[in-house]
Amino acid sequence: MLTDKRILLIIAGGIAAFKSLDLIRRLRERGAWVTPVLTRAAEEFVTPLSVSSLAGEKVYRDLFDLTDEAEMGHIQLSRSADLIVVAPGTADLMAKMANGLANDMASTLLLATDTPVLVAPAMNVRMWEHPATQRNLATLRADGVSIVGPNEGDMACGEFGPGRMSEPLEIVAAIEGAMKVGPLSGRRVLVTSGPTHEPIDPVRYIANRSSGAQGTAIAEALVAQGADVVFVTGPADAARPHGVQLVEVETAQEMMRAVQGALPVDAAVFSAAVADWRVSSASDSKIKKTKDGLPTLEFAENPDILATVSQMAEGRPDLVVGFAAETDDVIENATAKRLRKGCDWIVANDVSPETGIMGGSENAVTLISDKGAESWPRMSKGEVARQLAERIAKTL
Ligand code: CTP
Repeated sequence: MLTDKRILLIIAGGIAAFKSLDLIRRLRERGAWVTPVLTRAAEEFVTPLSVSSLAGEKVYRDLFDLTDEAEMGHIQLSRSADLIVVAPGTADLMAKMANGLANDMASTLLLATDTPVLVAPAMNVRMWEHPATQRNLATLRADGVSIVGPNEGDMACGEFGPGRMSEPLEIVAAIEGAMKVGPLSGRRVLVTSGPTHEPIDPVRYIANRSSGAQGTAIAEALVAQGADVVFVTGPADAARPHGVQLVEVETAQEMMRAVQGALPVDAAVFSAAVADWRVSSASDSKIKKTKDGLPTLEFAENPDILATVSQMAEGRPDLVVGFAAETDDVIENATAKRLRKGCDWIVANDVSPETGIMGGSENAVTLISDKGAESWPRMSKGEVARQLAERIAKTL
């Protein structure tokens, strides 16, 4: 709930502004106070009257509105909220924010504020992918601004790709996460992610295939539920999640130590694809080709991190979730794995090449618990993460 939280909602000029009307309604339903600010361009898409009717508060529209300045100056207005939300965040407003411009009401408020800011970007896919926007995005993130979305899909301009503003309920979840008022607030959750690299010599390694995309999505979904997340990742390609305590490791043994260092936690989600073996005969110098034949590698078994934490006699997390990436007899194998490792849930998925799941943006999982196996429809990895985080929140 967001009871009596004050949100300053800046609506910039984009077609997604119509969704901000629903966002206001959702925030009000949750007990928040919404003070709306409309840019001039936003007024082309939504009317001040509809915005103020839904918010139940007056709309701030122009920096040089003298009445407003007498009532509440822009400096004071910028600091009166618990959170400033920019939705939709247009390419133009993000560029102004990244560069510190202050030439209208919205950009001035954003420059003058010392309140946390959350942006829900919305723009054409080419504008989103343009290096200038990506630069501005990186700057905003480095400045501590939280970002939710954008989603991928059909766009009002007829193109397809990332750029659609997140749905109102996704923005509400991000707001709750930013304010740490979600159902998992005060809960500490560990997530492992990505592959591990086990060196053969300084230039070669063995590894499992894993992009880290599902782990990153799970961490972000848990943050959105208000959790304090410790994210232990191997060398993954996926972007690192925002708003987490990040621990980067390379090998399974380092991951094991990082996990032990992160305990105690309320829940732990082991989505990493840990290499089962390391090369015990790893060389400190590069192994050269010789005429004497092929090198012989000796292996040692890596610690099973999931099993170790699941079977802790003392201080075990209340909920331990493992993953099972299988290619055959998915449910049978994963059910047996849950019992063998001693975790509470297993998220099983079929990673046969024809599924396209490995390295793709979608996942089709079966959640296995002591209540049996529950197959979820195929959905985006972000949606799997959101539903899993909600389930964790309900269970803890
Ligand atoms: N896992 C782990 N530490 C390991 C190996 C696996 O924490 N050394 C975790 C993974 O993060 C995942 C789960 O265990 O949550 C399943 O891993 P998987 O490799 O599929 O299981 P294995 O025990 O290796 O079983 P098998 O190789 O027989 O499929």
